[in-house]
Amino acid sequence: RLFDFGMIGLGVMGRNLLLNMADHGFPVLGFDRDATKTQALETSATAGTTVKGTSSLEELVQGLSRPRRIMMLVPAGQPVDDVIESLVPLLDQGDVIIDGGNSHYIDTLRRVNYVKSKGFHFMGMGVSGGEKGARFGPSIMPGGDVEAYNNVKPMLEAVSAKVNGSPCVDYMGHDAAGHYVKMVHNGIEYGIMQLISEAYSLLQHAGLSNAQLHDVFSKWNEGDMQSFLIEITRDIFAKKDDKTDKILVDLISDKAGSKGTGKWTSQDAMDLPVPITVIDTAVALRNISSFKEDRVKIAKIFPGVDKINISQEELIGQVHDALYFATLISYIQGLAMLQSASSALKMEIPLQNVVRIWRGGCIIRSGLLETFYEVFLKNPALSNLLLDETIAGLIKSKLPKTRIIVGEAAKAGIPVAAISAALSYFDAYRTERLPTNLVQAQRDYFGAHTYQRTDIEGTFHTEWQ
Ligand code: 6PG
Repeated sequence: RLFDFGMIGLGVMGRNLLLNMADHGFPVLGFDRDATKTQALETSATAGTTVKGTSSLEELVQGLSRPRRIMMLVPAGQPVDDVIESLVPLLDQGDVIIDGGNSHYIDTLRRVNYVKSKGFHFMGMGVSGGEKGARFGPSIMPGGDVEAYNNVKPMLEAVSAKVNGSPCVDYMGHDAAGHYVKMVHNGIEYGIMQLISEAYSLLQHAGLSNAQLHDVFSKWNEGDMQSFLIEITRDIFAKKDDKTDKILVDLISDKAGSKGTGKWTSQDAMDLPVPITVIDTAVALRNISSFKEDRVKIAKIFPGVDKINISQEELIGQVHDALYFATLISYIQGLAMLQSASSALKMEIPLQNVVRIWRGGCIIRSGLLETFYEVFLKNPALSNLLLDETIAGLIKSKLPKTRIIVGEAAKAGIPVAAISAALSYFDAYRTERLPTNLVQAQRDYFGAHTYQRTDIEGTFHTEWQ
C-alpha cells in the first residue's frame, strides 16, 4: 500500500509529528539514515496505526501516494539544502516538499524559487510546541505556496492543537511567511522567558524559597497570567534532582544557550526597521550570561546587592504586574514587527489568524492571545496594539506597580533589563515630542545631515559654528 505522508529526519520532533499523524488515521513513512531512529519510530507507534521507517530515501519516495507530501525536520542550514538536493532527482512534478524546521526565512525564499524551478512545490512551515506539542497537537505556521498548503491542509488541521474546536493552523501569507511568523514567535518566546527570569530574580531577592516560588507561579497561572511558560516555570520550581535530591534548577549553570531564532528576529527588526527592545534585550542577556568568567571577576569589583525594603506580599504583587506589563509589551513588539514586515516584504500576513493559531499548541500560548485575537479580528491592520482601547486598559492597570518595582530594582542593583526595556518602550511611545530633535541637530552639526523643522516645511542645514 502507499503512504500518505513522508518525514525526513526522525529526531524527536519528526518522530512525534509522524506518530501524531498516524494517530489521526494517516499511513505514514519516516526516513532516517540512523536505523535506531527508524526502529524507535516503529516501536513507538500506537497499535492499529500504519507507521513504517526506512533508511532508504528511494524507498521513502516510492512508498508515497502522489502528489507526494514530504516534510523534513532536520537542523536549519546546510542540512536542509542537502535534503532538497537528494530529493530533487527522485521526485515527480507537483510533489510537495515541506521544511518544518526553524529555517531562516531568507533561506526559505531562496529554496522556494529553486524548488519551483524544478517543478515541485516547497513550503516553509513553522511548528511550535516542542516534543509534546508535536506528539499531541502543535501550533502550525505554514506559508508560501497556496497549492502546497491546500494539499496538506486537512492533515495539518487534523494533527494541530485545537482551541474551542478550531485548529491551530492557518495560512500565514506569501513566500516565506510561515518561517517569518515562526521566527517572530521565537523572538517573543525569548522575550517572555527573559522577563520570567527577571521576575524570578526579584522574588529570590525577596527571600522566596523554591516552594514559595512554585506557589506564586501556581497562582499566577490560575489568574490573568495563565500561560504555558508560567505553567512550566511553576513545575520547574518543584522538580527535584534525582542525583542529589536538591531542586534541580538551583544546580543548573546560568550560561543560556540559543540556536539563533531570537537573534534573527532582532537582526531583521533592525533591517525593517522596527523597535523590539524586549526581544533585543533578551538576546543580549543570553549573551551576557555566557561571559561567565568576566562576570565572576566583575562581581568581585562591584560586590553587593541591596535589600528591597518591601513586604514579600506587596513585592509579589508588584512583580506580578511588572511581568504582566512587560510580557504584554513583548507580544506588542513582536506583533508590530509582523505587521510591518507583512507590508514591507509583501507577505500579507493575516495578524488575526496568527494570534488565533498561537492560542493553542505553541510555546507562547497564553490567556492574552484570546484578547489579541478579538482586537485583530476587529482591526486586522492595527499597526501597534497600544492603540487599542482594551490593551490600553490592561497597560494602565499594571503600570503603577511596574514603575515602583523597576525603580526599586534599580536602587537595589538587581538587573531587570527586559522589564525596564518594556517600560521605556512604552514611555517612548506615549511621548509626543521625544528629545530626538537634539539628535537631528547633532547630526546636522557634524555631518550636514539636514533636518526638518516643526514650523516651516522643507529640509534645512545650518552652519553651526
Ligand atoms: C517552539 C520552540 C522551538 C525551540 C526553539 C528554542 O516553538 O517549539 O521555539 O522551536 O525550542 O528553537 O530556541 P533556542 O534554542 O534558540 O532557545
